Amino acid sequence: MRAQSPNSTMGKRTLRGNSKAKVYTLIWLLLVCTPRVDSSWWYIGALGARVICDNIPGLVNKQRQLCQRHPDLMQSIGEGAKEWIKECQHQFRHQRWNCSTLERDHTVFGRVMLRSSREAAFVYAISSAGVVYAITRACSQGDVKICNCDGHKRGQASDQRGNFDWGGCSDNINYGIKFAKAFVDARERMVKDARALMNLHNNRCGRMAVKRFMKLECKCHGVSGSCSLRTCWLAMSDFRRTGDYLHKKYNTAVEVTMNQDGTGFMVAEHDFKGSAKNELVYVENSPDYCLMDRAAGSLGTAGRICNKSSRGTDGCEVMCCGRGYDTMRVKRLSQCECKFQWCCTVQCNDCEDTVDVHTCKPHKRPDWLDQT
Ligand SMILES: *[C@@H]1O[C@H](CO)[C@@H](O)[C@H](O)[C@H]1NC(C)=O
Ligand SMILES: *[C@@H]1O[C@H](CO)[C@@H](O)[C@H](O)[C@H]1NC(C)=O
Repeated sequence: MRAQSPNSTMGKRTLRGNSKAKVYTLIWLLLVCTPRVDSSWWYIGALGARVICDNIPGLVNKQRQLCQRHPDLMQSIGEGAKEWIKECQHQFRHQRWNCSTLERDHTVFGRVMLRSSREAAFVYAISSAGVVYAITRACSQGDVKICNCDGHKRGQASDQRGNFDWGGCSDNINYGIKFAKAFVDARERMVKDARALMNLHNNRCGRMAVKRFMKLECKCHGVSGSCSLRTCWLAMSDFRRTGDYLHKKYNTAVEVTMNQDGTGFMVAEHDFKGSAKNELVYVENSPDYCLMDRAAGSLGTAGRICNKSSRGTDGCEVMCCGRGYDTMRVKRLSQCECKFQWCCTVQCNDCEDTVDVHTCKPHKRPDWLDQT
């Protein structure tokens, strides 16, 4: 333990009442005005191979320890982060909020994530799923020291097609889940508020989503491929399945409020039936994301490409929030008149065609703003 030196500044200098009040005001202002820097482990993806645990802003102590102890796992989490962010952008490519990230910003998604919205629910779920996926894959590929294929999958088992032998490498999803839980949840375990409860719930949904799409893969043996003998292993499906699933869960996410003793949720919608256990949950309504709003972290939809004939979220009506759209004729090169050549190539010509591309108009500023 470090002894407090008798002439440390703390002991010697006493603050006069007035300046003391000023200091407290300053601290209070800092606490109120500094937004909670959210889940910066997401930033590991941007750092890539240069993961240095002390330099990632916003890791809580537990995460920093795990980072120092398992630099190879952090490497996988970093590569995984690029993938789940790409998956998020794929899932939201037709929506006003499109999961865009900010360059060199350690909050990664900016101020949108300060709100306990449906979008935050999705990002927490898919990021936690992404960690499960990345760790599990790293274990199977032998990229990391601490884990490998699932050692419990040995001997014989059976499915609807009959008996088989466990063989090959079964993905060690349980290790992936265990590590993701320890690492990703660490931050939320530090506080007990509605936001932390919401994040923990959605993190769990994300982890379970990966497990849901584990599939049995088999290889046939036996006389001339008769498949009288099978060797099988459990494998994760493509991450796209998890992305599709969580996006569906985003659409049916459930609004909740914290219960009175602060230990759990109550579903806010009265006509909701069933359990919210496997649903994404959120606490606050989303902004409409129509306009650029720095405080809310909304980029707005000006300049976004929209689909004139769609009635969905990618339709110009919805995407442009009724502001209208501009149309551009663009020339496009595509392959055409493809012919099969014996054997075995396909030869095509390059053709040029024109397509109309529609983009949302910017917000029209009211006249009184232009007159300054
Ligand atoms: C998302 O939309 C913004 C404009 O609202 C655009 O600048 C950005 O390129 C888009 N990002 C992706 C990943 O599509
Ligand atoms: C636009 O929307 C229509 C109707 O939903 C769809 O059939 C079409 O493929 C979309 N076009 C593009 C370029 O996405």
